[in-house]
Amino acid sequence: MVERLELALRDGTPVIVRALLEEDRPAVAEAYRRLSPEGRYQRFWTPVGELLGAAMLDRLIEQNPQKHLTWVVLDPARGFPGVGGASWWRNAADPAEAEISAMVLDADQRRGIGTLLLAVMWLTALRADVEQLVAYTLHDNRRAAKWMQDCGAVGTWDGYKLVFRWNLLQPERLPATPTADDFAAWLAQLSPMLLGC
Ligand SMILES: CC(C)(COP(=O)(O)OP(=O)(O)OC[C@H]1O[C@@H](n2cnc3c(N)ncnc32)[C@H](O)[C@@H]1OP(=O)(O)O)[C@@H](O)C(=O)NCCC(=O)NCCS
Repeated sequence: MVERLELALRDGTPVIVRALLEEDRPAVAEAYRRLSPEGRYQRFWTPVGELLGAAMLDRLIEQNPQKHLTWVVLDPARGFPGVGGASWWRNAADPAEAEISAMVLDADQRRGIGTLLLAVMWLTALRADVEQLVAYTLHDNRRAAKWMQDCGAVGTWDGYKLVFRWNLLQPERLPATPTADDFAAWLAQLSPMLLGC
């Protein structure tokens, strides 16, 4: 099973994209510390401090290709920690569904890293026979909401949060946006590597 890819971002920057390893624990804690308060709030939804709790660290690091994966994007020129990461967790009550989340360092946003990570999440979830991805965002997280819609998600409002869904077996037609083009290109490029087709 492929767990490490050597790729290039749109601007040509070479990156390593791989599953998180137990030895990454200190780097993940450090990456969390480097996030802006806004970024932390958008991803974790609580005004948490600079330190990532042990339980959340465990939740991110423990890897199980059928239940949960976290992948990170690393810029070898800058070393650890990485510039972004994304996870999916299978829903125990509905194994056809997995929840995803993504986080890119503030200074590295809009470089295509989130879209690359979403394509990796999509394909690794599909590899585990997940049929539907779901992501939640706060109502005022417009950038994330637009990004998910650009990547083909269908959004609804549940009265508390925005809920975005992707049907992996019958994907929506992607809108005509640069992000959608990037997303389609990553899916096409990574499918042979991650799915073997
Ligand atoms: C949401 C998030 C993950 C998106 O990651 P990202 O790496 O910034 O996203 P990408 O760069 O892949 O794509 C989005 C941007 O790239 C731009 N883009 C995409 N392809 C492009 C291209 N070929 N040329 C120029 N710009 C392009 C898009 O227009 C978009 O910019 P916009 O925000 O101005 O509309 C990131 O903003 C983030 O970490 N937010 C905080 C945490 C969070 O909200 N997570 C989501 C909830 S779990």
